[in-house]
Amino acid sequence: MIPANVIDDIKARSDIETVVSSVVTLKRTGQNLKGLCPFHSEKTPSFTVYPGTQSFYCFGCGAAGDVISFVMRTENLDYVSAVETLAKRAGIVLPDFDESDRREQGVTRTRVLQMNLEAAKFYRQMLFDEQTGGPGRQYLAERKLSMAAIKRFGLGYSPPSGSRMLKHLSSLGFTNQEIQTAYFAGKSERGYYDYFRGRVMFPIIDVQGNVIAFGGRVLDDSKPKYLNTSDTPAFKKTKNLFALNYAKNTDAGYFILCEGYMDVITLHDAGFGMAVASLGTAFTEEQARIIKRYVPKVILSYDSDEAGQKAANRAIGILEKAGIEPKVLRMSGAKDPDEYIKKYGADRFRSLIEDSGGKFEFMTENIRRKYDIDNPADRVKAVAEVAAAIADLYSNVERDIWIERASKAFSVDPKSLRADVDAQRKRSAKEADKKRRGELIRITSGLGDRVNTDFAKVPKAAKIEEGILGMIFLHPDYITREPGGRRLREDDFLTELGRRLFRFTAENAESGTFQFGLLNGAFTPDEVSRAAKMLAERADLSVNDGETFDSYVTALREEGTRHGEGADSLEAVLARRRSGTGEPPAGQP
Ligand code: GTP
Ligand code: MN
Repeated sequence: MIPANVIDDIKARSDIETVVSSVVTLKRTGQNLKGLCPFHSEKTPSFTVYPGTQSFYCFGCGAAGDVISFVMRTENLDYVSAVETLAKRAGIVLPDFDESDRREQGVTRTRVLQMNLEAAKFYRQMLFDEQTGGPGRQYLAERKLSMAAIKRFGLGYSPPSGSRMLKHLSSLGFTNQEIQTAYFAGKSERGYYDYFRGRVMFPIIDVQGNVIAFGGRVLDDSKPKYLNTSDTPAFKKTKNLFALNYAKNTDAGYFILCEGYMDVITLHDAGFGMAVASLGTAFTEEQARIIKRYVPKVILSYDSDEAGQKAANRAIGILEKAGIEPKVLRMSGAKDPDEYIKKYGADRFRSLIEDSGGKFEFMTENIRRKYDIDNPADRVKAVAEVAAAIADLYSNVERDIWIERASKAFSVDPKSLRADVDAQRKRSAKEADKKRRGELIRITSGLGDRVNTDFAKVPKAAKIEEGILGMIFLHPDYITREPGGRRLREDDFLTELGRRLFRFTAENAESGTFQFGLLNGAFTPDEVSRAAKMLAERADLSVNDGETFDSYVTALREEGTRHGEGADSLEAVLARRRSGTGEPPAGQP
């Protein structure tokens, strides 16, 4: 562990307002600050920073914590690495703490990054090695990649057999466990073997210039075509984009979003350095939010087949939600941008960019492709689909404009199209309402609470516990109070999460070392978020004095008595039913 006093020091010099402000634009509201949440997409700010308690809480998605958890979440780091990052920022030199403690949390991000860098060098070396690299070089030549592109993207090659990477990384002092965690080795009964074999290798580099992962493509038609590094302590595929390290330095004012590595490399080589790709997964909201930091507009250039167009449709929704203007590039005669440029050249691709349409064109063209507009029955279906798409639009103005345009495009009366749109909106509103009510019942009854699984059993007590814990987080010295003649104890709590949070907090408060951030090392991120919510909710109230605390403790003990002896506890009911005595509760068979 990093000593508590060092963490204190780092936190004292890492003002949450300043740290958060580097990522989120904050506006002051009273004592607190508000901004758009960096952890989910929203249009009105529900992300709140509490300078008083140096914590944050999002009323929209429930993300919560202190400055350390903020860095963990935004930079995708483990606890120790987040502390290190803040230390560096604050100019604090960390003492050498025990390496074995760090390993408790598994293999560290730093080690994985070191390994990745060594691996990238080694793959490249093997690509250019006379003896080894022939097949890789030949493949890249067939794909018409220039030497400049190969070098710029640091491409490499993993030979088909053996365990050369494993041996290489071992010789540099990495353990088998580390090598496996970083996805350079797999393990079978016969031992460890190289994970990537017989593939051209694409290093993935983050905006800080770290090699964070690899994609590897086979040289023939065998499967899987691509093998990618799965998530490691240094990499989360849903939070990174291929070639963002280069695209971020371009000034076109937009990015071109593609599906494949090859597309991106070819585009960059042809002068379109603003191309990026998601990494072997569907485009995510997190990726959209990252893009938003750099550009307000994205031109989607997905594969021209049906799957590609479906994916583009999804991506449009995600981009819009993140507040990015989506455009769609329409391409015929080639299946993807890589093929298009090689067939028709960069200039024609540039005109595709200029001709790229917005969401409206994308929608209407897709519908046109699906139906024969001249056939009356088809036409009805087509217009119904148009109406449904328009009904989905958020803004009134936008709906008006679309109704206008669509009625022209499909030669229908704008009034009847509007009537269809309104009817569709009523239907969706009803459905949404029903869903929301169900959700509300689920939440208020605590059913489906995955973080505090005991909530449903003892909802009232669980609520009281949250208040008590919130007050303890604010005033750790309250644990020495003696409401009703004795201190609060672990067994006063009725939920398991409550007991655990209390035990941990009380132990640390006892020795005077309690820090909210310490929870990060002992609880899951969800649990820490819940705890931070307890803290945030109390911090918002002005009544957190000792007497209030005492009355909460008394109330909790009453709940305990009620449930312990009470006839209406779930346990009691179940026990009665099991033994076949007593009345079944009302309303149950
Ligand atoms: P080429 O055939 O080399 O031109 O590939 P591409 O870059 O055009 O890729 P494609 O359109 O076939 O796939 C798009 C992206 O999806 C790739 O760049 C990979 O990131 C990912 N992908 C494709 N095939 C696989 C696979 O078999 N497994 C995984 N995990 N990802 C894949
Ligand atoms: Mn391709």
